[in-house]
Amino acid sequence: MKILVTGGLGYIGSHVSVLLLEKGVDVVLVDNLDNARIEVLEQIERITGKRPSFEQVDLKDQSRVEALFETYPDLEGCIHFAAHKAVGESIEQPLLYYENNIGGLVNILKPLTRQGIPLIFSSSCTVYGQARELPITEETPLQPSTSPYGFTKQMGEQIIQDSCKANPNFKSILLRYFNPIGAHPSAQIGEYPQGVPQNLVPFLTQTVIGKRPLLNVFGSNYDTPDGTCIRDYIHVMDLAQAHIESLNYLLSSKQNSSCEIFNVGTGRGASVLELIQEFERATGEKVPYELSAPRAGDTVAAFADVTKIEKQLGWKAQFSLQEALKSAWDWEQQIHVLS
Ligand code: WQD
Repeated sequence: MKILVTGGLGYIGSHVSVLLLEKGVDVVLVDNLDNARIEVLEQIERITGKRPSFEQVDLKDQSRVEALFETYPDLEGCIHFAAHKAVGESIEQPLLYYENNIGGLVNILKPLTRQGIPLIFSSSCTVYGQARELPITEETPLQPSTSPYGFTKQMGEQIIQDSCKANPNFKSILLRYFNPIGAHPSAQIGEYPQGVPQNLVPFLTQTVIGKRPLLNVFGSNYDTPDGTCIRDYIHVMDLAQAHIESLNYLLSSKQNSSCEIFNVGTGRGASVLELIQEFERATGEKVPYELSAPRAGDTVAAFADVTKIEKQLGWKAQFSLQEALKSAWDWEQQIHVLS
């Protein structure tokens, strides 16, 4: 079986590629290297003992995308990760996000729908905004997005749903990720933020290793048990496994609807202060932090109802928050050695 993985050298794409290769699936990795390093290819090979095909292609280039499908006429599926993902940057440069995330998706959908190649799409819990009720199910109403990034995920979902309706031989799964954290147990691949990390866990590990003086806990008077925001943090290896189950389901004849949506989370919420405590327990390290002002645009609490994915795909998160945080710390130490 041959699967196209766009954004295959990125954070989540690289972990999924490792699992696919370990299962004996042939992968073609596509990346424009905008926000990924070519060294990841070496690291994937080191972990799996297999060198995947790699094409440096920008999905905004329609003719290069079409050429890809001519080079690999035997693709049986596509997992589409390639997208920009920084919320703040998307507010400053909206057109960059619309051109890249929407343009790239439309360009790849043309050959996929024409050839009936099924697609797994990286969506996000960001589409729910601040949900009125928790936990969040797939039926929870979507809220107007607060950033161009979030809007590209909502639009992306709609574009794919419309494409499924218009092309009876085209099927898709939309995975709404909650907060992915952690790294591969080998500490050979992980999240590699460019510049100052915007997300909690890379900022925390960079603080503990001494690259940043202090972690700011954004907001401590929220309406939550300890006053800090609550999220559903999922180990990237669990998230990667959810893609494997989705692919099996998509390629089997079991899928009832041509476009299925699944939440991918643990079903458990943790506050920022709880996460800090769990990190300290898992690693024995002290986190220097201070309570500071809330960050504009943050939702108070979000965690997933995972009943649907458990029932339909038989997938359930296996790793604890401590295991995820320990792997993030091992990875941070590994990057420190390399840099
Ligand atoms: C988590 C919590 C912060 C940094 C992101 C994306 C979103 C979706 C999920 C992909 C919040 C707090 C953070 C810091 C802190 N992903 N925090 N100090 O905001 O839930 O969402 O991941 O699509 O689109 O934006 O994740 O890691 O930024 O924040 O206190 O230095 O940590 O306030 O409560 P978020 P995050």
